[in-house]
Formats: sequence, C-alpha cells, structure tokens
Amino acid sequence: MLKRTVLLNDDDAGLEQGAEMLRSGGLVAFPTETVFGLGACAFNCRAVAGIFEAKGRPTFDPLIVHVAEPDHAYDLWDSCIASTRHLCDQFWPGPLTIINAKSEKVPDLVTAGLSSVAVRCPDHETARELITRSGMPVAAPSANRFGRITPTTWEAVMEELDGRIDAVIKGVTRIGLESTVVRPCGDELLILRPGAVTCEELRRVCPVVLTGGAEAKLHSPGHSSRHYAPTVPMRLFKTSGELSHLIHASGVEISRIGVLLFCDEPVTEKCNVFFLSPEGDLRQAAARLFPALRFLESCSDLILAQVVPATGLGEAINDRLNRASFRNTTD
Ligand code: TXA
Ligand code: MG
Repeated sequence: MLKRTVLLNDDDAGLEQGAEMLRSGGLVAFPTETVFGLGACAFNCRAVAGIFEAKGRPTFDPLIVHVAEPDHAYDLWDSCIASTRHLCDQFWPGPLTIINAKSEKVPDLVTAGLSSVAVRCPDHETARELITRSGMPVAAPSANRFGRITPTTWEAVMEELDGRIDAVIKGVTRIGLESTVVRPCGDELLILRPGAVTCEELRRVCPVVLTGGAEAKLHSPGHSSRHYAPTVPMRLFKTSGELSHLIHASGVEISRIGVLLFCDEPVTEKCNVFFLSPEGDLRQAAARLFPALRFLESCSDLILAQVVPATGLGEAINDRLNRASFRNTTD
C-alpha cells in the first residue's frame, strides 16, 4: 500500500514529528554520520516488520539497533565482556557496530532469530536527538531497497523509498560509507563488514583483529556477494590498459559507458567520467562513492570502476565495489 512520505526538517518541530511517528509505529528515515538509516522502534515488532516490507529485505538479514547514548547498549546485550566495553569507550559515539549476545528485550525479528544483536551509537546530532526524543532504541538498516545503492542524501532516500515509508528527515551524512561491523570473541575481534572505522584504527585498540574470509560470511547473514548494485552492469579494473580493453570489448557505445576513476588520470575516450577524488584522498572517495554510482547508472548502460588502493578506507570502498559488480553465473 502506498503511503504519503513526508519530508521533515532537522529542526525542533521536524524531530518532534519524526519521534512521534516512531513512537506510534511509523517508519522514519534519518541521517547518520555514515549513511541514511530507515528507522523503526526496535521493540515494536509490527514496525520492524514494516522495515523488511518497505525495503523488500529478506527476514533472515538482521538489523542494527541504534542507541542515543553508549550506556543504553548494555540494556540490549545479555552481558558484556571487558573488551567490548573498551571498544564502546574508544569508538562510540561513532561508526562502529558491535555484535554481542542479545538480551530478552530484543525481539527475534530484529535479529533474524540470531542469539546476538548488532548495536551502534551514531555520532550524529540529528540521529541521536531523534532516538532520544522517541524514547527507545531504533532499529535501522540503510534506507535503500534491498540490494540497491546505499543512500547518502535525503534525495536518494526518496528515490528509493518514496511512498513506502512515513517520513524522511532532511540532513547530511559525513562519511558516506556504512559502519564497520565487528564481533568480539574474547580478546579477538572479527570484522564482519569493513567500513568507516579502519582495520588500522581497530588494531590500535585490540590486540588481534581478524578480517574477512569464510568465517565473516558465516557470522553475517546479510553479507551477500551481490549488494549496493546499480541498475546497469558494472565491471572493475585496475590499470588504464585494462580499462581500454574493457571499453573496446564491451560492445557498448562509448558515450553510454560510465567510468569511475579513483584520482585524476587522463582519459582519452569520450565516456562519462567521474573522479572519486582528484587529490587521491580515500576519505573524499568514500563520501563520493555511492552518489557517483547513482549518477553513473542514470547516464550509462555499463559502469567500469577502478579499484582503489587497499589501505585505510580503501578496504571498505573496494568491498562495496566488489559487491556492486558481483555477477551470478545466471546474470
Ligand atoms: O552505517 C551503518 O551501519 C548503517 C547506518 C544506518 O547505521 N546501517 C547499515 O545497516 O548499514 P544494514 O542493515 O544495511 O547493514 C547491517 C549489516 C548487515 O549485513 C547485517 O547482516 C549485519 O549488519 N548484522 C546485523 N545484525 C547482525 C548480527 N546479529 N550478526 C551478524 N551480522 C549482523
Ligand atoms: Mg545496507
């Protein structure tokens, strides 16, 4: 059923209206420092079910619960080992999502039946104010339809979910890439999804940080190979030689090919070119990645994207590029 999606300002009146909608079981998209989230009261199963419905998200994919204050996480977890508390102290408020055994208060629908729950305290005034005013933790995945490009602006949220949700709070995101999702196991920390907090930053705080691989996949049900996908096919390349080969082998008219480049490099072909960061700055590249994919899909029949240096935020950017370009054998 189509809803009327209201645009709200991130001022006192807008936040109050958004909070009231959450309290009465509505779906409200809001900015965080990473990307836009689609929020519902985490304790209201009907509202949480609405998130899955609006996104077309399978119910085996658990949601992150957002809290306004770091201490509120401890009500959602069953218990908490010292290393988890240390992580909260070091990184919250901020773009780190921490998974731990869930308390009985958290409905099974939120966690897709898992015995653990992912929690994050965002570092964004609008997000925290909205959660505080709603008076409860807010379950919120990224505010896109399932498998699609993550929205980093309210306009992108409207493109994805207009008519399916109650409101969008206007505002800006800063980082443009989702949080890092981690699971502490004793003194070890398993990264389930690379994101805005880099591996190097985590290693400064945690003695053993394990990344990727089959284990991460096993622990992260929603981490499907294909995700963040543009509506047109996408291929990756490293060198200008590979780019040139892909352009000429594609059979696509040159003016309909979108090229996503990391930094300023000469391109002689008349493709639609988008530079993620002319200065080669990975932070800028992260913030421009999802808007770049949205722009290029709107004017191209094929996107060719360059992988970025795999250091710092580059790891998370390459993760998103890999998933966005993943092809099933049936594709
Ligand atoms: O920056 C972000 O993390 C944004 C903002 C809105 O906070 N949220 C976000 O949520 O990216 P979502 O649902 O798009 O991605 C959350 C990821 C999914 O891959 C999900 O499978 C995983 O976290 N996840 C959630 N709860 C989990 C759990 N209990 N165990 C393992 N993985 C979990
Ligand atoms: Mg998402």
